[in-house]
Amino acid sequence: MIPRDFIDELLARVDLVDVVGKRLKLKKSGANYFACCPFHGEKTPSFSVSPARQFYHCFGCGAHGTAITFLMEYEGLGFVDAVEALAAEAGLKVPRAQGAISAAEAAQQKSERQLLLELHAKAADFYRRSLERSPKARAYLEQRGILPATAERFGLGYAPSEWQALAAIFPHYSEPLLEKAGLVIAQPDSGKRYDRFRDRLIFPIHDRQGKIIAFGGRSLDGGEPKYLNSPETPLFEKGRTLYGLALARDGIREAGFALVTEGYIDVIMLAQHGLTNAVAALGTATTAEHVRTLLALTDQIVFCFDGDAAGRRAAWRALENSLEALKDDSRLRFVFLPPEHDPDSFVRAHGADAFRALITDEAKPLTTYLFDELTRDEDLHTAEGRARLAHLAKPLIGQIRAPMLRLQLEKELASRTGIAAETLHEWIPPAETASPSSRPAARRPRLAARRAPLPLAALLLRLLITHPLLASRLSVGLLPLEDPEPEWRACAAIIDAIDVGTLDAHATPAVLVEHFRASEHEEVLARHAASLLEETLPWEDPEATLADILHTLRRRRLEREIEALIALSRQRKLTPEETVHLGELLREKNRLTSVGTSGAIPMPQPP
Ligand code: UTP
Ligand code: MN
Repeated sequence: MIPRDFIDELLARVDLVDVVGKRLKLKKSGANYFACCPFHGEKTPSFSVSPARQFYHCFGCGAHGTAITFLMEYEGLGFVDAVEALAAEAGLKVPRAQGAISAAEAAQQKSERQLLLELHAKAADFYRRSLERSPKARAYLEQRGILPATAERFGLGYAPSEWQALAAIFPHYSEPLLEKAGLVIAQPDSGKRYDRFRDRLIFPIHDRQGKIIAFGGRSLDGGEPKYLNSPETPLFEKGRTLYGLALARDGIREAGFALVTEGYIDVIMLAQHGLTNAVAALGTATTAEHVRTLLALTDQIVFCFDGDAAGRRAAWRALENSLEALKDDSRLRFVFLPPEHDPDSFVRAHGADAFRALITDEAKPLTTYLFDELTRDEDLHTAEGRARLAHLAKPLIGQIRAPMLRLQLEKELASRTGIAAETLHEWIPPAETASPSSRPAARRPRLAARRAPLPLAALLLRLLITHPLLASRLSVGLLPLEDPEPEWRACAAIIDAIDVGTLDAHATPAVLVEHFRASEHEEVLARHAASLLEETLPWEDPEATLADILHTLRRRRLEREIEALIALSRQRKLTPEETVHLGELLREKNRLTSVGTSGAIPMPQPP
């Protein structure tokens, strides 16, 4: 194991510009250097190297990293060998002294994932066997029309109605890893432990390779919540996981398209009817990452959500979140079921052929759906109606990176609003990271200022990557770590590392990213560090921006507390203390709202 201090020192001694410059022909342009990217074929340089940040990023293929990453990828070296090579170039010797402890630590870190996977496999096996033994659970399956072969295909199980059923297979029930896996819950005050899933039908959730990384559990008797899912763990990120994907891969290839639904049962029942290309987002909105994952397998996606109001909202969210992931050859369509149906009930009521017919005949292409929705309440015979349409379409089209598709939408908007396509083209801001071919490099900086606001979590993370010193003004407790964005957790990790002194508050982005190599934050940190090379910084004054972020975080937290108390008051009468507290919270919220922000950044709207 190489001591972390040494990596920091090494990165301080070498200059990425030299390291890359030795291997590629670099040309200076502005603050950065450019070369033709060695990682993908190109004729015009889009590989940029920032001397200030000691980070490289290719606008074309997205390759990015530090001097160490560069050597690993360019020379095909492992991490240790890349560090050795870099040290040799800098005339440093790699210390290997504290081998024993840190090597053991490293081994432990590496295998945590492995251990968690084993726990999940074991638990899934136990749940499956419990299903066989439970007449109640089998009766439920039967009542839902799920055949034994289908249950087997999806590895369905049953969590017995006991507090510590898992103790039967995990003799070390107090093992903290069971908690980390989300299988066991420890009560905060008493420390008492019990199974997360009790008396529930269990749906194993697989990663792309088919390894079980989480579970969903449905209550059998109408108990709340209807579905309980594993929490986010080192194995499981909801926004990146699609239920049923591993099993649907072949079906997607064969059918030539992926079918996105809302629920576990939808996926299962469609498969039972021979529609084996269905997946589901796990109780969250479809994310751009979901769409990118599917578009890597197929160029066609059909979204088929429930026919109710919630399903329609989910479809619109899916559209919004898909835009940035679209490619020119992507075909996305949206099917709307009759209001009383979800895919499960529809296919059971009308059969697979009717479902196929619905998809073929009724699915609206993305563009049609987009304009139908935007013009639903607009009178395009009035100037105001046309202006509103343009206003509403602008941020949506602005997210599309695929150049031809974008052009088509601009034309479509032009024909409906009577505004010249060229005017629209100039007026709609470029997408966050358009490929260099779609946008000449010289135009990038001028247009960057008009970009759509960054999500708050991304903004804070980029601020901390460039100004880690600001971490001392933040406390982890203020971050909404329960939100799905991995950026919040990465922010928390930076704040922690600086707080305990393992990370220098003056670290360059490269040192910071290397600090978190092989951790769960590696990918998200490297991605945001890279984005900083591509764009003009999303702030003018870092301190004022931080103040604004803090302000928003405080306000959001207050709002959540207020909502929780109001929800409680609907269930029972609040105690006098709670009423007083609610009054205080409301006053505090009013105060925060009237103070407002410094206006240094366009604040993102709360979801
Ligand atoms: P639905 O409420 O539409 O349930 O939630 P469903 O899939 O039709 O299930 P059945 O037919 O009533 O059994 C859709 C999806 O939203 C997530 C689950 O992934 C579910 O499959 N969800 C729903 C939760 O995570 N928690 C909940 O409490 C409810
Ligand atoms: Mn259902």
